[in-house]
Amino acid sequence: MTAEDPQKGRDRPEAETGAATALAHPNIALVKYWGKRDERLVLPWTDSLSMTLDTFPTTTRVRLAPGLRQDTVTLDDELLVGEPHRRVVAFLDLIRERSGRPEKAVVESRNTVPTGAGLASSASGFAALATAACAAYGLRLGSRPLSRLARRGSGSAARSVFGAFALWHAARAGYDDPDLGSYAEPVPVRLDVLDPVLVIAVVDAGPKPVSSREAMRHTVDTSPLFRSWAASSSADLAGMRAALHRADLDAVGEIAERNAFGMHAVMLAARPAVRYLSPASLTVLDAVLELRRNGVSAWATMDAGPNVKVLCRRAETERVACAVRAATTGGSVHVAGPGPGVRLLGEYR
Ligand code: DP6
Repeated sequence: MTAEDPQKGRDRPEAETGAATALAHPNIALVKYWGKRDERLVLPWTDSLSMTLDTFPTTTRVRLAPGLRQDTVTLDDELLVGEPHRRVVAFLDLIRERSGRPEKAVVESRNTVPTGAGLASSASGFAALATAACAAYGLRLGSRPLSRLARRGSGSAARSVFGAFALWHAARAGYDDPDLGSYAEPVPVRLDVLDPVLVIAVVDAGPKPVSSREAMRHTVDTSPLFRSWAASSSADLAGMRAALHRADLDAVGEIAERNAFGMHAVMLAARPAVRYLSPASLTVLDAVLELRRNGVSAWATMDAGPNVKVLCRRAETERVACAVRAATTGGSVHVAGPGPGVRLLGEYR
């Protein structure tokens, strides 16, 4: 299996029979994606950069079912209906169109993420679905086209195609077709030097009040801070690339934290405000500040939910996890390092 072709490298006995299984991990953005300039094509306003995790994988099996009248999709054994089902069907339609195969499919997806952790995000889900469905429909794509395709399911899924650090380009110069210009690619980082870990504080396992899709649309439409957010995010991206190149964890953390606060600020300025952070999130953020006051390099990032992810050096994981645990009453704490990109699983290993 190479980074170039996630579908390569196995005998793929299933593919010939129109079935395939793929495994993908979630990613956490250190420079966030927040806002689309094209909803249909899922084209973002800004570049973003993330770390793919080595925990909480999603496994998705796609089996073509000639004769079936509509796609059947289950997530953790629950049948999807309504909008979540429609979203998967629309995604499979893209693959049917490209492969020229009209069959409907049975999709079975399984998350290992703790319920409601805000990590069962669509990133690992659509990266796994794109990979398994392409193989099942006989569509061979390299990682870049696969990343573009995964993007159409959920923007952040474009990055989960790759392991460790990945940069998702909003619009690469030189492409006339905007769909082609927006894809993720790996960012080379000396992982042995940076040795990053995310300590994940699940402070609230309840469902989020507003989906990220809806919240980002509302932010773009109503927040007077949106334009300045986009401008500052592009400066953060440049700084983040340089910091990763130097394997400078303090700089990576500082930029990631300010970028996350910027994203939440721009949401808070929307009308009406979108607020994901809760008192429990702030308690963890206080603990992160306290760790830094005590000389520990720990930096927070938060997504479309109240849970807080704390970036630190692997060598300081225990100290950080201990402080975060003490600040996370009634929740749970998990540790994740950089993980692999999406891959096909051979079921007959
Ligand atoms: C806050 O990728 O879930 O996690 O493209 O509408 O499916 P859609 O949104 P999604 O948004 C992720 C937003 C974020 C930041 C990030 O991952 O970059």
